[in-house]
Amino acid sequence: MADLPTLDNPAQEIFPRDLEAAITDLKRERNAVILAHYYQESEIQDLADFVGDSLALAQAAKNVEADVIVFCGVHFMAETAKILNPDRKVVIPDMAASCSLAEGCPADELQAFIDEHDGAPVLSYINTTADVKAISDLICTSANAVAMAKSMGDQPIIFAPDRHLARWVAEKADLPNMIIWQGSCIVHEQFSAKGLAQLKVRHPEAEVLAHPECDNGVLAQADFIASTTGIITRAIESPAKTLIIATEDGVFHQIHAKAPDKELIQAPGMDESCACNQCPYMRLNTLEKLYLCLRDLKPEVTVPEDIRLAALRPIERMLELSAQLPK
Ligand code: 13P
Ligand code: SF4
Repeated sequence: MADLPTLDNPAQEIFPRDLEAAITDLKRERNAVILAHYYQESEIQDLADFVGDSLALAQAAKNVEADVIVFCGVHFMAETAKILNPDRKVVIPDMAASCSLAEGCPADELQAFIDEHDGAPVLSYINTTADVKAISDLICTSANAVAMAKSMGDQPIIFAPDRHLARWVAEKADLPNMIIWQGSCIVHEQFSAKGLAQLKVRHPEAEVLAHPECDNGVLAQADFIASTTGIITRAIESPAKTLIIATEDGVFHQIHAKAPDKELIQAPGMDESCACNQCPYMRLNTLEKLYLCLRDLKPEVTVPEDIRLAALRPIERMLELSAQLPK
């Protein structure tokens, strides 16, 4: 007898002709919500109930009342949703959707680093595993990292794992003693400072918008540095008609939709021959996998309860502090 199609061999799946309609029907049947990050492909963003940056997605996940959260983003984001909302089933279209930052900072190595630095308090970027969050004092996202760092006072703090974001935060928050874990994002680190300088010569009228995970050589040339939400909002509201954008190109979809007259130029990468400005982890999620995920309610994201409770504390603290920040 021929093998029945399963989620493990999706190549044999037969998909409905109108995948978007089938996903919408399944979403209703399962009483599910789809949360999506701006780095997802446009079709997924359009099907989502909520699209946001890491901070907004964490805030949204906390308040979901549906039975199922389908998280179209990377694993640490889905894990954060589960930590904040343990009574909901959380599924992700592709379990392999990881992040170079989370992968480059294992909890045991971070613990050794903390011990080497006399137990200094830890501010961890949300792009980390639940195990890392569980040994952190406070979590931040790119949208609130400067404020979170300032909230920890003048003491030397460890910032993990993004070294570029850390350097930018240390400068903005005036914390020269920050102890920095040397991780990086493979997407943002590949933008070329030299290529950007050349592009700016060809487009002197353009405004440059960059994500703080970019290298200092790129950030030094940026007119505006912010999270993905900040970049999208600025691109829409900026008086500039031409924008050079140094982040994953999933953000173009929302900008095109709300400001179709703007000329958007992707900041050049070091290797012009690849699509390196698309996150290879984020882009593992596809409409087909989203359909299967809703149909089969797997793969499911789970977090052991002791880790969840330990990780919840610094995330909740971030959300409380963030709620007090001026909008
Ligand atoms: P945001 O905080 O802007 O959502 O960034 C998430 C991310 O993974 C950037 O690479
Ligand atoms: Fe991680 Fe970079 Fe991908 Fe964001 S863009 S999920 S930081 S690898």
